[in-house]
Amino acid sequence: MLLENKVALVTGAGQGIGRGAAIALAEEGADVVVADIKEAPLKETAVLVKGLGRRALPLRMDVTSADDVQTAVERILAEFHQLDILVNNAGVCKLNPVLDISLEDWDLTLDVNVKGLFLCCKMVAQQMISQGSGGTIVNIASNAGKVGFPSMADYNASKAAVINLTRWLAAELAPHGINVNAVCPGAVDTDMLLDCARWICDRSGEGDPHELVQTFAPEQLGRLIKPIEVGRVIAFLASDKATIIRGQSINVDGGSTPY
Ligand SMILES: NC(=O)c1ccc[n+]([C@@H]2O[C@H](COP(=O)([O-])OP(=O)(O)OC[C@H]3O[C@@H](n4cnc5c(N)ncnc54)[C@H](O)[C@@H]3O)[C@@H](O)[C@H]2O)c1
Repeated sequence: MLLENKVALVTGAGQGIGRGAAIALAEEGADVVVADIKEAPLKETAVLVKGLGRRALPLRMDVTSADDVQTAVERILAEFHQLDILVNNAGVCKLNPVLDISLEDWDLTLDVNVKGLFLCCKMVAQQMISQGSGGTIVNIASNAGKVGFPSMADYNASKAAVINLTRWLAAELAPHGINVNAVCPGAVDTDMLLDCARWICDRSGEGDPHELVQTFAPEQLGRLIKPIEVGRVIAFLASDKATIIRGQSINVDGGSTPY
């Protein structure tokens, strides 16, 4: 196993890719702290982690709140006495043509996807540095941060910021033994993707979101990506096996992004 005796924090772990990451980390032997702004679904993720024989701690946490993140780090230390891995997965995506994006929507997207990720990196990296044993951070960016998609200007911008921030976090945290990378998923079968399909169907007044979402599948793969498949790449990047990969934003998109 790649992650025995490691303690991981996964944000946005109540569902989707965050839950997939929590399971994949547990499969590799890590104990997993599962955090989300929505408390109820966390219990199910924690049960799945415990079912793999690992310890799990569900924590309600809003990544945009410095107090929440600080309290979470303190709770983790009280329970596990260490924190080795951070997976910054919490994210939001709301579609709107660029001229219709309200300042409230812009702020929410940038607050959760960029400020929240930065806050978690900052506070967890401080802990990793004081532990003196290094650590790994895996950020969840998106192929939207590389190619961009229509009606997602705020989301595209936020994920491009994550890709750039990943590069500089890696450079500045390397002297402390902390390795930072990102993944750029393509179309993953989650509620977020289904909500995008719902928005398109509502706006055009036709189509079934469940059918439309299947058409987002990467052509080379021929199906949507599963959260656990992204999770397993995250688990690899979180391990010592990935030490030579640094500051990268790796496509996990079934071949849909050309670079
Ligand atoms: N689904 C895709 O196709 C896809 C593709 C590329 C990137 N991503 C990215 O992957 C990540 C997970 O996406 P998903 O598809 O699983 O989405 P999802 O909507 O299914 O899950 C996101 C989770 O984040 C949580 N969250 C939202 N705001 C939060 C906050 N302020 N604090 C803490 N938790 C918060 C939600 O409650 C939810 O549980 C996101 O960063 C998303 O941008 C998704």
